[in-house]
Amino acid sequence: MEYVLGIDIGTSGTKTVLFDKDANVIASHTIEYPMYQPHNGWAEQKPEDWWNAVAGTCKEVVSKSGVDAKEIKGIGLSGQMHGLVMLDKDNQVIRPSIIWCDQRTAKECEEIEAKVGRERLIEITANPALTGFTASKIMWVKNNEPENYAKCAHILLPKDYIRFMLTGKYATEVSDASGMQLLDVPKRDWSDEVLEKLGIDKTLLGKVYESPEVTGTVTDEAAALTGLNPGTKVVGGAGDNAAAAVGTGVVKDGRAFTTIGTSGVVFAHTSKISIDPKGRVHTFCCAVPGAWHVMGVTQGAGLSLQWTRNNICTEEMNQAKAEGVDPYYIMDKEADSVAIGSERLLYLPYLMGERTPHLDPNARGTFFGLSAMHKRPHIIRSVMEGVSFSLMDCLSVFGEMDIKADSMIACGGGGTSKVWRKMLSDIYNCEISTIDSKEGPALGVAILAMVGTGMYSSVEEACDAVIRKGTTTAPDADNHERYMKFYDIYRKLYISNKENFAKLAGL
Ligand code: XUL
Repeated sequence: MEYVLGIDIGTSGTKTVLFDKDANVIASHTIEYPMYQPHNGWAEQKPEDWWNAVAGTCKEVVSKSGVDAKEIKGIGLSGQMHGLVMLDKDNQVIRPSIIWCDQRTAKECEEIEAKVGRERLIEITANPALTGFTASKIMWVKNNEPENYAKCAHILLPKDYIRFMLTGKYATEVSDASGMQLLDVPKRDWSDEVLEKLGIDKTLLGKVYESPEVTGTVTDEAAALTGLNPGTKVVGGAGDNAAAAVGTGVVKDGRAFTTIGTSGVVFAHTSKISIDPKGRVHTFCCAVPGAWHVMGVTQGAGLSLQWTRNNICTEEMNQAKAEGVDPYYIMDKEADSVAIGSERLLYLPYLMGERTPHLDPNARGTFFGLSAMHKRPHIIRSVMEGVSFSLMDCLSVFGEMDIKADSMIACGGGGTSKVWRKMLSDIYNCEISTIDSKEGPALGVAILAMVGTGMYSSVEEACDAVIRKGTTTAPDADNHERYMKFYDIYRKLYISNKENFAKLAGL
């Protein structure tokens, strides 16, 4: 038998899944790690934690599957995008990784736009300077920790650090590299112009591959630590969203997905590059060679519900423990018991600033309309509705760019909730389907490994062969109309509070 491994280095943990050629899950294991927030708006993780989780999950998956590691033909890597990993000349990690949701780099974004020119930057990198992206994080280290920058010999993204640990190669691939803001996205290679204007030495960066290409093979040293076979091929893989697109079959025009993980993303495939001149949604190279995608991002999607669970839902957590179920299962039922609009309670999900459509690191979470009659179920539902409205903001921008999203898949942790899928379907006013696999990004990069090792001849062919659709939820016109009344107020709340968010951030 032939097998492939998908490794997804996420924000809350690393999940490693072994699949057979038909994408059946043979074994899976997850190891979690912390996120550090030394200041309001900062977010860091330790690359060593990611590597320990990768080594631990691979070992566990190989041993519990009983599969001979020699039969694992290829490995695909997926992961949280944008994080900055800096290695010194001896390949030691210099400082904790500043990750995607860190918001400390507003000044550096101004610096980048001043140096490159905002319009030119959007032309080349397809995006305005963003606090979440890697370039501003590199500039922050340059400006604030010159001693660390001086030691830096290699700059890698989170999953590409894992590639280095597995294969000894410094490499990346187009989809994740698009989120560094150093790539010429139309040309699918590093931009000499941006690198020069920002004073970043190109030799610090790895070689850029297309996502299904083989980038290296597992070294003897990594094999000993992971239980993998030395010489196993590692393909480019993809950033988590581009990987989820492959894992949900969003690899052709007209197809789109919404994922609710820590962040939330609305993603649509496009074979023709299309860039929002206002920079509200990202245009990135996708994992299908020669194609792109547009995506809007809600910074605090699943994060908002997780925050609610951890800080407000102690009772639900205790009940879940006693009943041996997931707290989100109980929270879902409570949300479902409340009517649309959460009895006039609205929530803005800007816990970590916001990207689409506001591009504002100062925005913060808000409950609006809180009354003495509101109880925890209202709060839970309003959080889910607020996240859904923010995803609707993303979809609205696609409409303006004439990008069609005829078929919408729901995925990520939030996509497994029937209540959340119904909410999205009613708010978007379109059908929402699921895929008969929960593995999203891990499956996506496993498919890329199938293509890279010759099991299938293209990403599209592999997706047609292995992806199976699940259930479909239909929208209800009356519900849509009711939601739109709340959405109208939701949209105005950011506009009327923009100045106050900035003032609050300055206190
Ligand atoms: C995408 C983004 C997030 C991260 C974390 O631009 O920042 O989706 O990849 O999952």
